[in-house]
Amino acid sequence: MTPIVKAFFDPETFTVSYLVQEPEGTACAIIDSVLDFDHASGRTNTSSADQIVAYVRDNELRVEWILESHVHADHLSAAPYLQQELGGKIGIGDQIVSIQETFGKIFNEGTEFQRDGSQFDALFRDGDSFHVGQMRGDVLHTPGHTPACMTYVIGDAAFVGDTLFMPDFGTARCDFPGGSSETLFGSIQKILSLPDQTRIFVGHDYKAPGRDEYAWETTVGEQKALNVHIGQGRTIEEFVEMRDARDATLPMPRLILPSLQVNMRAGQMPPADDEGDVFLKIPINKL
Ligand SMILES: [Fe+2]
Repeated sequence: MTPIVKAFFDPETFTVSYLVQEPEGTACAIIDSVLDFDHASGRTNTSSADQIVAYVRDNELRVEWILESHVHADHLSAAPYLQQELGGKIGIGDQIVSIQETFGKIFNEGTEFQRDGSQFDALFRDGDSFHVGQMRGDVLHTPGHTPACMTYVIGDAAFVGDTLFMPDFGTARCDFPGGSSETLFGSIQKILSLPDQTRIFVGHDYKAPGRDEYAWETTVGEQKALNVHIGQGRTIEEFVEMRDARDATLPMPRLILPSLQVNMRAGQMPPADDEGDVFLKIPINKL
């Protein structure tokens, strides 16, 4: 089965959101949506998500799933807004509970913050499957970037989130809490064991030296041959050494603090105070 895949690129956060549609039919899934957030003013807006809403309405599609590959640290999820506008169930990997545990502590959340994943409609385990109309989706647990990362394989298309990036850019960082370059190496091998012609859709693109255009679609075969971090049979030792050295030089993503607080709640803001106002926290010297 070859789904129709429409990409929506957000140049502010370099995120690619995907709409995956049945080749003949109207069922679709949305993967890794973006809620625009201006950090300086604390203002949100829905212009990125509204492009997806318009596409769904224009093409008279039916949204069955709103999926997250993981708890993103660089953008806020628009899943609740999309669900309100379009319907569909919000799904993520079941290891979300460990992320909620970790960041519930870091943000000193009270007991009203449930750490059981109940903010989501579905928690997927490795090996689970789901349907988008007639299409079957398979779920692979691919941790390393974070402990809860999932790859969704729908027909011949694999949505790998932040595991592999384009072959000329490489792989995702592994230095967030619970991340591990050794674990990521294993997860990538899992993805690379899919058939060579499997289309791979990556979660971000930052261009790469010598490339002027953003890109987000490649294949398993291309990754095996060309990926600058992992291709041509790179060993786990070589990968771990390279990845850890590189991660030690990377700054924290600009939106990590707002993103984590919102995304660990399935894209909901923290509860409003007695006046009805909503605030995000900045923990000092904790990350
Ligand atoms: Fe990420």
